[in-house]
Amino acid sequence: MSAITVIGGKASEDLARKLAKKLKASFVSTELRVFPDGESKITISSKPKGKIIVVNSTYPPVDTNLLQALSLIAKAKQFSNQIICVIPYLGYARQDREFLPGEVVTLSVIAKLLSSAGASKVIVVDMHSMLGLNHFTIPVRNVSAVPDLANHLKKMRLKNPLVVSPDLGGKERAKEFAKFYGTDYIALQKQRDRKTGKVQIMTANLDGVKGRDLVLVDDMISTGGSIIKATQFLKKQKCGKVFVACTHALLIDNAEQKIKKSGVSAIISANTIPGSTSLVDVSGVIAKAI
Ligand code: R5P
Repeated sequence: MSAITVIGGKASEDLARKLAKKLKASFVSTELRVFPDGESKITISSKPKGKIIVVNSTYPPVDTNLLQALSLIAKAKQFSNQIICVIPYLGYARQDREFLPGEVVTLSVIAKLLSSAGASKVIVVDMHSMLGLNHFTIPVRNVSAVPDLANHLKKMRLKNPLVVSPDLGGKERAKEFAKFYGTDYIALQKQRDRKTGKVQIMTANLDGVKGRDLVLVDDMISTGGSIIKATQFLKKQKCGKVFVACTHALLIDNAEQKIKKSGVSAIISANTIPGSTSLVDVSGVIAKAI
């Protein structure tokens, strides 16, 4: 088998190590020094060989982590023409279209930056919408953490579980989760004010949730607003316990505490973003895609 090297950016070091182990690849770590003006200086610990895989998520600080990913790709390009760039959580994925006139579709800028830095292929995990993949001119692959999240939740032995998407856009995700879990699903109707960002649940009263434990499934949690509104609505419908399964738990500020306070029993997320809730490892699905 030809040599493979995984370069682990600081934002995804643990996941990159796990990936290297699964691929039986060499691992190259990075040293990061941030200057007082905020500039990053990145140094790779040794020379990468063969096909190179650069792993760096772009969670907050989004622009800094993005620049570090781009810098590592450009550095890797000095050693190989085959650079697979793994961005487990791709920031800006929600800016995939012009929602209001004049808005910049920043995702398309990011797609251009990744290929001009030297990436020959991009792998992302649970991209916000598949439409976003169209912005890339190099091969791009979306892998899903949903089967592993569903298996994790299944071991938690919920009472008569029902899978719920907090919005219609996540209906297919909820359907897939429910298929792996072996149960049924519903999707709520959510409305977000495009100017203020405020979220409202538009669904009328539901009969089918009474007494059932629920798994709210989403691609990401940022401020927690969507999950909190959905939980408050579902609790009013006299459901059982509410669990949250999401791929990317950004949990900005005190979102985790606010979500728990709204009545959520547990939040389970993937290690695309490392943190207290990231209990599901996605190195296996990424390794398979490579
Ligand atoms: C929106 O469509 C996404 O799937 C998430 O539901 C949303 O981005 C989560 O953001 P927040 O936690 O701030 O409501």
